[in-house]
Amino acid sequence: MADAIAGQDEPVAIRTVALTRRYGAVTAVDALDLTIRSGEFFGLLGPNGAGKSTTIKMLTTLLPPTSGSATVAGIDVVAAPREVRRRLGYVPQLVSSDSGLTGRENLLLFARLYGLPRAEQAPRAARALEFMNLTEVGDRLVRTYSGGMIRRLEIAQSMLHRPPILLLDEPTVGLDPVARRGVWDRLRDLSARLGTTVLLTTHDMEEADALCDRIGLMHGGKLVALGTPAELKAAVGPKARLDDVFVHFTGGTLDQGGSYRDAARARETARRLQ
Ligand SMILES: Nc1ncnc2c1ncn2[C@@H]1O[C@H](COP(=O)(O)OP(=O)(O)OP(=O)(O)O)[C@@H](O)[C@H]1O
Ligand SMILES: [Mg+2]
Repeated sequence: MADAIAGQDEPVAIRTVALTRRYGAVTAVDALDLTIRSGEFFGLLGPNGAGKSTTIKMLTTLLPPTSGSATVAGIDVVAAPREVRRRLGYVPQLVSSDSGLTGRENLLLFARLYGLPRAEQAPRAARALEFMNLTEVGDRLVRTYSGGMIRRLEIAQSMLHRPPILLLDEPTVGLDPVARRGVWDRLRDLSARLGTTVLLTTHDMEEADALCDRIGLMHGGKLVALGTPAELKAAVGPKARLDDVFVHFTGGTLDQGGSYRDAARARETARRLQ
């Protein structure tokens, strides 16, 4: 039987139970219980070092949990990693396109990586370029792309095998407002037209508010708040914005708590996307 939320018929896309990851003395993700419904647009928020990327990496099967469990489309990430990966698209926090190839070449590389049938590789790459509004620049080197184009190409790469679930780690970091909206439009389309379940992380409160059906706020590896943007704001005060929710539940300012490594990494990503 398909995994379902207790007492409801809605299928579950992602479920974590007491999911935990330690790095030496640091508990990056601490007994996380999270359920994301199929078709949901879910935002994982939290200060630098909260455990967002570590959570996503465990869901991709790239990083084994220390304890606890997680399922993707009802499949256990430790027991059947290959089955899980077939159902996932992943856009990592660091830029993953090869700037020395064209957009189309990057897509063909991923088509081979995902083991798509040879005859389908070129047509799928062409359709992915079209869907992401990149057809005109498809045969240009990625080196010449704008940050927004690169991020759209990466989303296209992650969707080539048409996975039902997409994991995006800070998809719009370093983008200008117009490019950012271009990525938002494509993500909304994926969600609305294909019913893709989207789990994204972001530090951009406007983005979370605009895109997400529900938001989970992480702090110190734990989930400290969960709800729709409207519910979270109402819980903090009558005129609260999502920034206020963030500060209320994490007890800091929007930029507090990042290590040098985190900040340097974010800057590096932003620089490469410029
Ligand atoms: N490979 C690693 N080795 C050791 N510690 C790590 C490693 N990766 C992450 N950590 C630590 O685990 C904690 C959670 O990191 P993680 O990258 O998941 O946070 P994040 O919420 O994604 O932060 P950011 O918003 O900066 O991307 C941090 O304390 C971080 O320093
Ligand atoms: Mg991160």
